[in-house]
Amino acid sequence: MGIVLGLDVGTSGTKAVAIDAGGRLLASALVEYPLHSPKPNWAEQDPADWKRAAIEALTKLASEIDPAEVKGIGLTGQMHGSVFLDKNNDVLRPALLWCDQRTAAQCDAITEKVGEARLIEMVSNPALTGFTAPKILWLRDEEPQHYEKLHKVLLPKDYIRWVLTGEYATDVADASGTLLFDVKNRCWHEGLMRELGIDPDLMPRAYEGPEVTGTLSAEAAAVTGLPAGIPVVAGGGDQAAGGIGCGIVRPGIISSSMGTSGVVFAFADQVSTDPEGRVHTFCHSVPGKWHVMGVMLSAGGALQWFRNALCAEEVARGKQAGRDPYEYITASAAEIPIGAEGLTFLPYLTGERTPHKDPYAKGAFIGLSLRHTKAHMARAVLEGVAFGMRDSLEIMRGMGVAVSEIRASGGGARSALWREILADTGRAPMVRINVDEGPAYGAAILASVAAGLHGTVEGACDAIIAEVDRTTPDEARAAQYDPWFAEYQAAYTALAPAFKRSAALLQ
Ligand code: XUL
Repeated sequence: MGIVLGLDVGTSGTKAVAIDAGGRLLASALVEYPLHSPKPNWAEQDPADWKRAAIEALTKLASEIDPAEVKGIGLTGQMHGSVFLDKNNDVLRPALLWCDQRTAAQCDAITEKVGEARLIEMVSNPALTGFTAPKILWLRDEEPQHYEKLHKVLLPKDYIRWVLTGEYATDVADASGTLLFDVKNRCWHEGLMRELGIDPDLMPRAYEGPEVTGTLSAEAAAVTGLPAGIPVVAGGGDQAAGGIGCGIVRPGIISSSMGTSGVVFAFADQVSTDPEGRVHTFCHSVPGKWHVMGVMLSAGGALQWFRNALCAEEVARGKQAGRDPYEYITASAAEIPIGAEGLTFLPYLTGERTPHKDPYAKGAFIGLSLRHTKAHMARAVLEGVAFGMRDSLEIMRGMGVAVSEIRASGGGARSALWREILADTGRAPMVRINVDEGPAYGAAILASVAAGLHGTVEGACDAIIAEVDRTTPDEARAAQYDPWFAEYQAAYTALAPAFKRSAALLQ
C-alpha cells in the first residue's frame, strides 16, 4: 500500500510519524530529551540524545506498521543548531541550538566585516545569534582546541541523516538558516564563507526537499527493525516542513505555528527580503520556491513559562481531573477584557528575532496594579504573544505578501480564545486543518513525493489537507486591540536600553 515516515528532531523531543498515500496517520512516536543551559543565554543539546531518540522512535514505528511497506523516510528538525564533527565523525562538543544567544560578538563581527546590506544581498538574511555561521566563529574564537579538529558542521536532523545513512547532506531550507547559503541561487555561498574564513568543505551537500540523499544503512536497519535500503529524503528545516504539513504551498495562505517559538510563515514565488532583515527569507521545501517567516523565540514557550512559574494550582487541578491545565488558564483569561485592564506583557523571555533582532530583550509585565489578578496576567501573556505575531504579519504585508487566511498549528492553536485573539489582532481568518502533526508530517509528505506516491509537493498537499474550522476576525474587537498594540510596541522601545544594561550587569 505504500507507507512513508517523517522524523522530526525537535527541541523537546524527536517525533516520528507513519502515513499512507492518503495522508492517514498510521502510527506515531515521541521520545523526549533535555535541553541544557550551562550558562546564562546558552542552550545546548547532546546529539547522542537525538540519536537515541531517533532510533527509539523509528523502532516503535517499525513495530506498529508493516516495515516492508515503507517507501521512504523524510527528515526534519530544529533549524540552525550546530553539530561539530571531527574526522572520525565524533561529536566535538554539545550542539549549540537555535535559541542559544552566546554569539552576539560574532554576529557584530560578521556584520562589521561584510556590511548588513551586503550580507542581506548575499544570503538574504542578517547575522542573527541563533544562526549557524556565528556558532562556527564562536567555536573558532572560544574553543580553538575543538575548532582545529573540526571536519564537518551538520544541522541537527542532518546528524541523524548521517546516523541513518552514513551520508553528509542537508536540504536547501535548513541550509538557508546557516547564513552561509545563497538563498536566491539555492547553493552554498562559497565567496562569503571564504570572506569569513570558513572552509566551504565543512558544509554538507544541499538538496531540494523531495530529493533522495541516501538509503537506510544495514547498521541503522538492524537497530530500528526497518529494512535496509529505504530512501532517505532531504526533507526540510522544521519551519519549511511544517509549512508543507499545513499546505502552505500557494500565495496568500500563511501559517502561524505556536510551539515553543511562534512562527508566521508565508509562501513566496520569488525571493523577497525585508531590507531591515526583520523577517527571514529562506528556500522552501517546494522545489524552486521560497518562504518568508517571522520568528518569535517565545510564543507557546511564554505561556508554558507562565504555567510552570505561576500556575501550580491549575496544574494540580488538571492532573486530578485528567484535563489540560491550559484549559483553566485560558478560561480565566477569557473573563478579562481586551487590554487586560492596562497590563502589557512582553514575551521576549529568550531574547527576540522578529521584529527585534535583540538577544538582550527580556520578558516583562508592564502596568501591574493592585487590581490585577493572575487571570489578567494570563490574558496579558496571550495578548503579548499575539501582538508579537502581528508584528510579523505587518512586516510581511509591508513587503507585499498577501494574507488571505492563516492556518493555525502547534499546541497554542488548540485554544479557541487564543485563535480568536490571533484572528482579531492579525485581522485575518484563523483556519484549522485536518492535520496537526507538525513538521514530521510535512517531512513524510516530502518522502511520499520522492517515493512516487504523489507527483508534486503541491499535489500531495491538495490531496491530503482540508479546512476543518475557521475563526473570522471581528473588526470592533480588532479596533479595541489597536491602542494596546501601540502600547506593546512602545514598551519594548522604552525598555530595550534597560534590557541591555541588565545583560551587561549579569555578565
Ligand atoms: C526557525 C527557528 C525555530 C527552530 C526550532 O528559524 O529557529 O523554529 O527551528 O523549532
